[in-house]
Amino acid sequence: MSYLKVRDLHTHFGDVRAVDGVSFDLARGEILGLVGESGCGKSTLSRTLMQLQPSTAGSMVLDGTDFVSLSPDELRRRRLDFQMIFQDPYASLNPRHTVFSTLAEAVCTRRPELSGDTLTQEVAALMQRCGMNPAAMRKYPHEFSGGQRQRIAIARALAPQPKLLIADEPVSALDVSIQSQILNLLQDLVDDLELTMIFISHDLSVVSYLSDRIAVMKSGKFVEVGEADQVFNRPEHAYTKELLTAVPSIDTDAIALRLAS
Ligand SMILES: Nc1ncnc2c1ncn2[C@@H]1O[C@H](COP(=O)(O)OP(=O)(O)OP(=O)(O)O)[C@@H](O)[C@H]1O
Ligand SMILES: [Mg+2]
Repeated sequence: MSYLKVRDLHTHFGDVRAVDGVSFDLARGEILGLVGESGCGKSTLSRTLMQLQPSTAGSMVLDGTDFVSLSPDELRRRRLDFQMIFQDPYASLNPRHTVFSTLAEAVCTRRPELSGDTLTQEVAALMQRCGMNPAAMRKYPHEFSGGQRQRIAIARALAPQPKLLIADEPVSALDVSIQSQILNLLQDLVDDLELTMIFISHDLSVVSYLSDRIAVMKSGKFVEVGEADQVFNRPEHAYTKELLTAVPSIDTDAIALRLAS
């Protein structure tokens, strides 16, 4: 059974058909890469899936539950199951909150009963899980590098124990040397925590690095969906071929190796 089943989803802003009839299935534990040029509707699709932006039409069934049928209370509870990671960790983290207070607050959305040492231990474990030293938990976002800040944002997304992660251009703002470290962290988390992930990028090479399957989006529609290896090495749609000729931002040899193995 698919974990997420999306059928003919539309999100329009007046005449702008940002999401214009998208259908796909996502299996539990799968990483779906979503790629397409700026303005094609990737972020609107993710915000619609997150229930942050109401859809205009279509359906979305998560784990057997149709989201349209949920009461606002149930929706709030179920929303903890999916979390987002954004492009700019600096903008998405509160500059006046320490790492501890940011992560503690996120932990308590799911487990409000935690406090004191137990909560501190939980925050430390989350930081460690994301490759950070818990000794830094009393520091503020500006005291970290961009890569470390993205690790904090990832830890915050994990804190409510989500099942689905949507990562919207999570490495686009990072130095090329840091990008693969963050991609590897995301891959490990999906494997270890049995997460399902939608990974968004305008860069097909970045998407190919992680994804099991890739969806190519253009003008609010999916023009091609397939196994990562097939879409990357034998694209069917002219638009996908066009995306492939764009300059890659990470080591494509490593991707070719991974896809071949
Ligand atoms: N809140 C909104 N109100 C009106 N139009 C919007 C809104 N959000 C997005 N749009 C429009 O919807 C279309 C899709 O935008 P979206 O941000 O989803 O694209 P994207 O693929 O994420 O682009 P990028 O790669 O630049 O992040 C664009 O034409 C955009 O201007
Ligand atoms: Mg976007």
